[in-house]
Amino acid sequence: MKREKRIIGNVLNEARRLSSYDVGETIERLAQRLNKKPSEILKLNSNENFFVPLEFLRRMLREAVEEADPRIYPRDEIKDLRRAYGEYIGVSSDQIVIGTGSDQLIDLVCRIFLRRGDEALAISPTFSIYRRCVEIQGAVYKPVSLRKDFSLDDAAMLNASSSKTKVIFLCSPNNPTANRLEREGIMRLTEEFSGLVAVDEAYVDFSGGSLVDLAEEFENLIIFRTFSKVFGLAGLRIGCVVANAELAKIMNEKFQMPYSVSLIAIKAALKILKHSEVIYSAICEVKRERERLIRELNSINGVRAFNSETNFVLFKVNRSSQSVYRRLLEKGIIIRNIGRVLEYENCLRVTVAPTPMMNKFLSALRETLE
Ligand SMILES: Cc1ncc(COP(=O)(O)O)c(C=O)c1O
Repeated sequence: MKREKRIIGNVLNEARRLSSYDVGETIERLAQRLNKKPSEILKLNSNENFFVPLEFLRRMLREAVEEADPRIYPRDEIKDLRRAYGEYIGVSSDQIVIGTGSDQLIDLVCRIFLRRGDEALAISPTFSIYRRCVEIQGAVYKPVSLRKDFSLDDAAMLNASSSKTKVIFLCSPNNPTANRLEREGIMRLTEEFSGLVAVDEAYVDFSGGSLVDLAEEFENLIIFRTFSKVFGLAGLRIGCVVANAELAKIMNEKFQMPYSVSLIAIKAALKILKHSEVIYSAICEVKRERERLIRELNSINGVRAFNSETNFVLFKVNRSSQSVYRRLLEKGIIIRNIGRVLEYENCLRVTVAPTPMMNKFLSALRETLE
């Protein structure tokens, strides 16, 4: 009995040094607090994709439900999804590992490649989940600053690495800076670094310039992709790793759980992939609205919006970003307060959404800054 208590105590002590993931304000909580209907709240803080028509996605889901026999574990369906998604992004299905969102796969990669006392490097600033997954393994997370213009400093990365460094995380286009990292820099890094280079391409469909074509050639390069952003399927939880076929086989057969993705999610994703025209048209709309949003933001006094190759825009304001974030919340608009990004203070991040939502956001921001 006493021994068990000691074990639990150790876990609690370990847990104290881990960070928790802040999902931010939720629609339900804010609606209740403001006495509004949930439909009146604008959720623009998680880079979800509201351009893919909800009716279309629901139809795909209904068809998936009609066809599914939930009594049986998914088996061949996951292979079908690897094949279909491989065709969609232009790689062989042997190179693909499917998981429950890219978050789960980032965690899986850390489980495979990191042991207590190892180190992982990542560009800074970037997506916070890498740190979390690295630290869960008892490994040390070392951020390496991007250059002033948000570009990758591959020489600084190599300088910061040591024999303990097992993984380098890159994110391209990067969250929250919204820019793509240069292909040549990533290739140089991958050639010179002896550990694993993991590039998160969650937003690459909104920019182009994916590195998936390099995954077979470089045995130490893997790419994360997700269905959450481009397909508007954040709620369904599907992500993917693209690696060379040998590594993908090991990940699939030895490390990934056999039934990690739900049958309904797999079937719905398969159906959606057959309608790439709907997805392409949503991508075009995201890009159009993104450029308009950047123009509009830059026309507001005291605001500077950065260029974006994603479905969100990073912008800075000439007063406390926390106060801007709070005042927008009071108006029922949830964005993300980022704070300092390298030399830029008071930055915020907003999801690109259809015009009526963006117009509401822009007029609320104008009122807030007046
Ligand atoms: C860079 C990046 N990677 C991964 C994710 C999460 O992807 P998923 O929904 O597949 O877990 C996000 C979500 O915001 C992200 O910004």
